[in-house]
Amino acid sequence: MNILVTGGLGYIGSHTCVELLNSNYNVVVIDNLYNSNTKTIENIKKITKKDLKFYLGDVKDKLLLQQIFNENKIDAVIHFAAYKAVGESVAKPLMYYDNNISSLITLLTVMDEYNCKKIVFSSSATVYKETKKLPLKENSDKFAYNPYGNTKLFGEKILEDLYNSDNNYSIAILRYFNPIGSHESGLIGENIFDIPNNLMPYILKVANKELDYLTIYGDNYETHDGTGIRDYIHVVDLAKGHINALEYIKDNTVIDYFNLGTGIGYSVLDVVKTFIKVNNIDIPYKIGKRRDGDIAVNYSDPSYAREKIGFYTTKNLEDMCKDSYKYVLVNKINN
Ligand code: WQD
Repeated sequence: MNILVTGGLGYIGSHTCVELLNSNYNVVVIDNLYNSNTKTIENIKKITKKDLKFYLGDVKDKLLLQQIFNENKIDAVIHFAAYKAVGESVAKPLMYYDNNISSLITLLTVMDEYNCKKIVFSSSATVYKETKKLPLKENSDKFAYNPYGNTKLFGEKILEDLYNSDNNYSIAILRYFNPIGSHESGLIGENIFDIPNNLMPYILKVANKELDYLTIYGDNYETHDGTGIRDYIHVVDLAKGHINALEYIKDNTVIDYFNLGTGIGYSVLDVVKTFIKVNNIDIPYKIGKRRDGDIAVNYSDPSYAREKIGFYTTKNLEDMCKDSYKYVLVNKINN
């Protein structure tokens, strides 16, 4: 099967391309290099010893998408390409709605022209309403608190309406919790050269001596140690979840939603202490004030993905911390 992976050189996209190639899928990537670079193509090839086809460009470019579908028989699409920084989305909502929604609509329009009706959509736990009723299930209440989250929620609605208009579609919507970690080779990982948005990239900046200390956003939440709790999932486990989803939509015309998380919540201090322990490196930190928009606790009930598509996570927090740092060490050597 030929799979078009939009944003396939990004953090989750590149790890998914590795798992697709390892599972003997043929991979075609479109990526505008907004948050990635072409070195990742070589690294994916090094890891898998297999090739992929790359098109430089934007998913909003209808002519380019039509060229891709003309030149390749695309059987299914995995759609990652989107902006994903919550804070940036609040400052630049139109940029987020234009990029994330327009690219999805253009992609679906071209897919329809070529009768390609199988898609795995990259969504996020950010679509869930803040609640004390945890763990979060796929039918938990939805509400997005920022434009980025709205683009994911609207994306889900667009796909729902599309499916209701034509039940020949096969649609898997994957709600990621907090992906961290890197491939064990250290060859691919999260683009750490940008200003980080999330916890692990900040920890890596401290580990890499680019920052003197980590700021922990609040230690007075109602949690075991006062710091925020999240459901961290190893990016390789997350990538493998896309293979499970692809297998599921291959044989079913359906629309379905899956939480991709471990079901285990760890606090910020749990992560920091584990990182220090497994990498034998100090991570100085200071307690700062809470970050606007942060919730105290958020973690998944992953049982539906387990039952329906056979998705299981295999890596623990120590693996996530070890592999995250490996990527920094390998990059330091290679740069
Ligand atoms: C995790 C915890 C922070 C940085 C975000 C997006 C979500 C999804 C995943 C795309 C929180 C604390 C963080 C720091 C800290 N992205 N923290 N110091 O906010 O759970 O989710 O990324 O889908 O949409 O909202 O992840 O990594 O930013 O924060 O103390 O320097 O780490 O307060 O408790 P978050 P995060």
